Amino acid sequence: MLFPSLYNLHMDGLLADGLTIIASGRSQMERAAFQDQVRASLAEYLAQDRFDSTVADAFLARIEYCAIDAKAATGYDDLAALLGARMERPIGVYLSTPPSMFGPIARGLNDAGIACAECRIAMEKPIGHDLASSRQVNADVGSAFAEDRIFRIDHYLGKETVQNLLALRFANMLFEPLWNAQAIDHVQITVAETVGLEGRVSYYDGVGALRDMVQNHMLQLLAIIAMEPPASVSSTAVRDEKVKLLRSLRKLTEADVRTHSVKGQYAAGAVGGEAVAGYADELGDASNTETFVALKAYIDNWRWKGVPFYLRTGKRMPRRKSEVLIQFKPVPHNIFARVGAPKLDANLMVINLQPEENIRVRVMAKQPGLDREGVKLRDVNLDVSLSHSFAGERRRIAYERLLLDFIEGDQTLFVRRDEVEAQWEWIDAIRDAWAAVDMTPQSYTAGSWGPSSSIALIERDGASWDD
Ligand code: BG6
Repeated sequence: MLFPSLYNLHMDGLLADGLTIIASGRSQMERAAFQDQVRASLAEYLAQDRFDSTVADAFLARIEYCAIDAKAATGYDDLAALLGARMERPIGVYLSTPPSMFGPIARGLNDAGIACAECRIAMEKPIGHDLASSRQVNADVGSAFAEDRIFRIDHYLGKETVQNLLALRFANMLFEPLWNAQAIDHVQITVAETVGLEGRVSYYDGVGALRDMVQNHMLQLLAIIAMEPPASVSSTAVRDEKVKLLRSLRKLTEADVRTHSVKGQYAAGAVGGEAVAGYADELGDASNTETFVALKAYIDNWRWKGVPFYLRTGKRMPRRKSEVLIQFKPVPHNIFARVGAPKLDANLMVINLQPEENIRVRVMAKQPGLDREGVKLRDVNLDVSLSHSFAGERRRIAYERLLLDFIEGDQTLFVRRDEVEAQWEWIDAIRDAWAAVDMTPQSYTAGSWGPSSSIALIERDGASWDD
């Protein structure tokens, strides 16, 4: 993701001429050997129409290499020496390491004088594994870099479709007056993946879907869907509203965690017509890690009083899809009840984020006819296909946007410290409640929509998941 994204920015002339990229890793390596690795990755991962050998040569010429062993805290002086006079210019340090290394690396950079007031640092999620550890990471990194120099990445915020949620809500008059408990019955957010462990055993096992997906991506989606209108799209205005929302999430307790949450783990099955192994088989061991989670959440504020937000995410689902569904309430009085249409379907809006990008609004319409045997009403869809409307525009990798914002110093699409901590606070309460009632994951067949209790979680309230 990272080098192809930087390459794309380079190809589009968005990187300044003097910008150099210094890659670091534990291995001692010659610059040319590292450049060869990058070239091979570009050829493999870039879209075919983007890879151009001459452009790649010019891009690779920007790249240098310096070995750093972050655990042993060696190599920082070599990096400082390599930077040389460039230390006078702004530096962006991008960490794609385990979170336990964020603090030590920030310290190492600081000690070597690479944390100047003009330097920024970017970190990939996860920021810690619970509230306490995330506070520690934030404090450690914060001792070397000021908050306005720290860029916490949640790659969902780099997705065009996620940014479009802001446009949908705040660039249109149509929806916002109805965006509240008076008009909305419930909201569903689904992030379904078809992939399984993908060889990430050492990271994923013991982490699970709640911490891997809900703590960050899903809560960011929820915050954008449910927050109050910010006064502008400035980083402070947007993040102030998101954090307010995250802090309004009602904590799950031991008393309600069994009815408001479901944990699942996939067993052998088939996805896309191909047989796949179960999680424990892939892992080579029995495990209590959940690969699926469904939650019923409430937001305790004026706007959302009593409106359930159903969240679910899982691996080895039948299809890859991320969507937000807004279920509106029925009309207060059905004037067609006595003339042939006793039941009206309530309006519904489905916002597909990936892989398709479209928005569908279900409205009731009259079936054409003379109505001699009663009025016939039927639901029809107003479809807005964004892929169609913006056909021909290249969809950028989320990291392209995030890296460019990072280079330019715009924090709007990065997660602030108080947001991460509010996210963890809510997640920790769920994990504590799970531990208190000893909740273990229920098995679901790979290629299904999760354990049957996930269906029960929503159907108990008279609603159904949009599968
Ligand atoms: C990552 C998770 O943050 O997001 C992965 O660690 C997950 O487990 C991925 O597969 C999903 O991202 P996307 O962009 O494919 O929806």
